[in-house]
Amino acid sequence: SVDERVADLIARMTLEEKAGQLTQYFYMGVAANLPEDFDIESIPVENRAFLEQPKMVDAAVAKGAAGAALFIKDAVATNRLQRLAVEESRLGIPLLFGYDVVHGLRTAFPVPIALAASWDMDIIAESQTVAAREARAVGIHWTFAPMIDIARDPRWGRIIEGSGEDPYLGAAVAAAQVRGFQGDLDDEHVLAGPKHFAGYGAARGGRDYDDAEISDSELWNVYFPPFRAAIEAGAANVMSAYMDLNGVPASANRWLLTDVLRDELGFDGFVVSDANGVRSLETQHFAKDLTDAGARAVRAGLDMEMTMFDPAYDRLPQAVADGLVTEEEIDQAVARVLRAKFRLGLFENPYVDESGTAAVLDAPEHRDLSRVAAERSFVLLKNENDALPLRAETLKSVAVIGQLADSKRDTLGPWVFDHDTEEAITIVDGLRSRLGDEVRVLHADGAGIPNRLMPSPFDGMDPTVLATADDHDDDAAIDEAVKIASAADVAVVVVGQRQNQIGEIASTATLDLPGRQLEQLQRVTATGTPVIVIVMSGRPLDLRWADENVPAILQAWYPGTRGGDAVARVLLGDVSPGGKLPFTWPRHVGQVPMIYSHYRTFQPGQQDTRYFDEPSTPLYPFGFGLSYGNFEYSDIRLDRHSIAVGDTVAVTVDVTNTSDSTADEVVQLYVHQHYGSASRPVRELKGFQRVTLAPGQTREVSFELGRSDLSYWSAATRALGQDATTFDVWIGGDSQASLSATF
Ligand code: IFM
Repeated sequence: SVDERVADLIARMTLEEKAGQLTQYFYMGVAANLPEDFDIESIPVENRAFLEQPKMVDAAVAKGAAGAALFIKDAVATNRLQRLAVEESRLGIPLLFGYDVVHGLRTAFPVPIALAASWDMDIIAESQTVAAREARAVGIHWTFAPMIDIARDPRWGRIIEGSGEDPYLGAAVAAAQVRGFQGDLDDEHVLAGPKHFAGYGAARGGRDYDDAEISDSELWNVYFPPFRAAIEAGAANVMSAYMDLNGVPASANRWLLTDVLRDELGFDGFVVSDANGVRSLETQHFAKDLTDAGARAVRAGLDMEMTMFDPAYDRLPQAVADGLVTEEEIDQAVARVLRAKFRLGLFENPYVDESGTAAVLDAPEHRDLSRVAAERSFVLLKNENDALPLRAETLKSVAVIGQLADSKRDTLGPWVFDHDTEEAITIVDGLRSRLGDEVRVLHADGAGIPNRLMPSPFDGMDPTVLATADDHDDDAAIDEAVKIASAADVAVVVVGQRQNQIGEIASTATLDLPGRQLEQLQRVTATGTPVIVIVMSGRPLDLRWADENVPAILQAWYPGTRGGDAVARVLLGDVSPGGKLPFTWPRHVGQVPMIYSHYRTFQPGQQDTRYFDEPSTPLYPFGFGLSYGNFEYSDIRLDRHSIAVGDTVAVTVDVTNTSDSTADEVVQLYVHQHYGSASRPVRELKGFQRVTLAPGQTREVSFELGRSDLSYWSAATRALGQDATTFDVWIGGDSQASLSATF
């Protein structure tokens, strides 16, 4: 059995080999690919260690001092390194190859927050299955995804990688992604690693890596549910978070990594640290030194250390000698890692078929699915007087304004590593091919979007993303944009942030449109040409002016490889937008954090005037999104009005599409508990279904509410339970739905 094989291997391993098995090395491929005649003197001394790094990893692998590697995306390279492990190391234990396959490998799907905005669990799972297939084709066995941290502060850059603010939606999306990535773990699927356990999204002030203070009630009711769902869906791995959670670093927090993760949530896979997260226990001034750091991480339940250089886990033999950790504790971690390798069949089949990769990476059906996923992710925020869809037959010329409108790299979004940038279809490309020769599509870059202050390490060495606005003559560029807009039938103004202005280490203190984009939008609008605004961003931006002054706004996120085609099809009405916001869209950064599921507290009737200088309502509520269809909700009904604690009630509603367009609606159900051992939020999402309705069609949509929906972790009883109480239930198209019933 696998357990016997694992035990047999462990019995033959030295303590050093065990420590090695628990180490995952970055492979600094940039250095590995340098030309032979590269002049090492040309780079700063402090960076030269990176150039030696791949050789160091090779040597560690060959002597059994590494169990896994990351950041290799090429079949020849994974096979080469695997051969060193299998054929040269003493016990021949194969390596695990991990990578951040976040929203596709070669095919870039829309960014994760966009996928969440589709509220379509099938397209999410299918997208991640394609990502897994492409990854596995190059020898990647394991993705550091999905990121399922609840994010309630849009200043935090990593909001783009998750599902937004809500634990119910977050749990559903987490489970769908795990199912998509892992499937039955055959040779077309990968291990999923939900991350970052736990509370990373609550970084103080939205500042990446800052500490998080989260009450137990919020942890159990908000931050843990997506992890519970991912684990129930079978997640094989979990990544720990960097920051201190309530005063103890998450990566050495035994309560978190063992009591909660394993004992309460039932996780039985292996835990990996975030990059350099174990070494960081020393720099965070928690561990005395790296020996202490390694020992405390293992004892907390952190099985594998991810690092670039000098693993803290190299010191585990010393830590055992010093009595800081036992060999049995180390064996337990090694067993978890080896079990994952057996599950993947790596001992039987360690290599990947190099001749098969191109066909998988180039599969046209993967690109097609990325377009469909993008179409389903867009959220129509405003559409006054049916400004959209545009009617091609009435157009002679379209002015497309904005740098993002024709930036291939930005169309893909952050966290893509194996993309072919040239292949990306921008909004300009998409409109040109959709409209053909009959309609002139003119483009002006217009206002420069200033780059982030420092280059993002996650852009690799790609120089195309480092174009700055410094040498950009904004005055002339905006004049040009205004000129082409004046002469066009319609102006499509694409506003937003560059892809490297969001993501890891990309938090922002404001939600303003960067550079002079707002001024440009105002001047284009003043020409009198009808304006359609498209937003490319992974977070809500300050759209107050646009919301008041332009007729149509479409949130298009970073839509991926076929994003421009998807935008064109939606603008021209080939398909109706049907996505809904997975977060509350504030008016102003000063309202942050702002969520729909706040508590009633004192004077609930004055909720809208909690500030005296700005409305305390959002610009767009959670769950909001318009469509080319028109939906009416009627006849909400319950199968009974009273249930015993633990029983189930069915809630049903009729939804009618009163328009003459076939369109999708995301039917959402919210509940509120009137009284109990603790107060509960004004509304909580507890069900949703995305349905397609033909013109005039009515559909009966039903939901069941049972124990898991009606119970919560109470700060008063310090336990998960359900109160005997009264619930309001609402069903509608967003979190402000008005049709309600009570039970
Ligand atoms: O997987 C990521 C993690 O989410 C953030 N730090 C780096 C890791 C490896 O790329």
